[in-house]
Amino acid sequence: MFKVTLILRAIALSFIFHALRTRGVQLRPTIQELKENDSVLHDFVHGSTKQNLKSLNSNSIEAITFGHDPTWDKPFFALHATSYGGPDDNYYGLHTTMGVYNHKLTPGQWSGAAIWVYHDGDGAKSSFNSIHVGWHIHPERYGDSHPHFFTQWTRDGHVATGCVNMDCPGFVRASGSVIAPGDAIQQVSDVADGHIPNITLRVLKDQKSGDWWVYYGFHSVPTGVGYFPRSSFTYLADKAKQMAFGGAVVSIMEDPTPPMGSGFLPNDGLGRAAAFTDLRIINQDGSSKPILEDLLKFVTDEKCHSIAPINNGAFLYGGPGNCVR
Ligand SMILES: *[C@@H]1O[C@H](CO)[C@@H](O)[C@H](O)[C@H]1NC(C)=O
Ligand SMILES: *[C@@H]1O[C@H](CO)[C@@H](O)[C@H](O)[C@H]1NC(C)=O
Repeated sequence: MFKVTLILRAIALSFIFHALRTRGVQLRPTIQELKENDSVLHDFVHGSTKQNLKSLNSNSIEAITFGHDPTWDKPFFALHATSYGGPDDNYYGLHTTMGVYNHKLTPGQWSGAAIWVYHDGDGAKSSFNSIHVGWHIHPERYGDSHPHFFTQWTRDGHVATGCVNMDCPGFVRASGSVIAPGDAIQQVSDVADGHIPNITLRVLKDQKSGDWWVYYGFHSVPTGVGYFPRSSFTYLADKAKQMAFGGAVVSIMEDPTPPMGSGFLPNDGLGRAAAFTDLRIINQDGSSKPILEDLLKFVTDEKCHSIAPINNGAFLYGGPGNCVR
């Protein structure tokens, strides 16, 4: 059960942080609360907000999370995650290609797809290290409804360290990098065009320096766009304990959730539903191996957004949204 709470905690933390940074002023009392008392997070992740965990089969767990909580923006997600806690569960990077989609969102909504790489430290929130990289549409942050490339990091559960994009020191841009965190992704057209732009992302721990590099490619071999220095982290300085990837959307309170991925469900099939392809786990020596087996699955509510099993290094995910808490 612990691995389930870890991933939900990882995701919840990064969303809470994201929301706080976007609406920090209105939520100042709640920031205080989060710093001093983890029970908000605890409730968000485990508890008074109703979470049912159903074992579907040995390596697939469906999490139906969160009841009504008027305080927070609510993330809905559809994710896969690597196994956690075993002697071989040490991770050094992930590579994948994913489609990027346009949706008209309103302030208070956001939608994206990402990779999470994290280490839960000694179990205390203050030791939680994470890196989060992907694309999102986030009108409140950018003042537009385009997909943007984003990064996020922390080494203390988002209390005093880390930020989104370049809001604080932490992400070091490589010279000549093709994109900066926060930049809009070029030429994104509608799924109806049948021409779905793809980005290739790679997050990996450099064997020599120990820094966590981020690679980005737009219909091309990904190139290094920058790194999170090893020295920014505690536990992630050595390795990650778990990695997750998939889609996530947020809406405020009683607003319906926006579309995830292309807006189609996995059952709508390849070409309509959004995909992650060429999934590869990067080894400590920099070599990689395709993810051929299915992994743990976490879905907030299958009615609005879902995720298909991993098949030969690829999976479909997404959905129309319109879920209301
Ligand atoms: C945290 O908050 C909960 C309820 O909001 C309260 O019962 C608990 O005593 C608090 N813990 C601390 C350490 O302040
Ligand atoms: C993006 O990737 C998907 C899945 O592999 C593929 O079907 C699609 O043709 C790609 N788009 C472009 C423009 O190459």
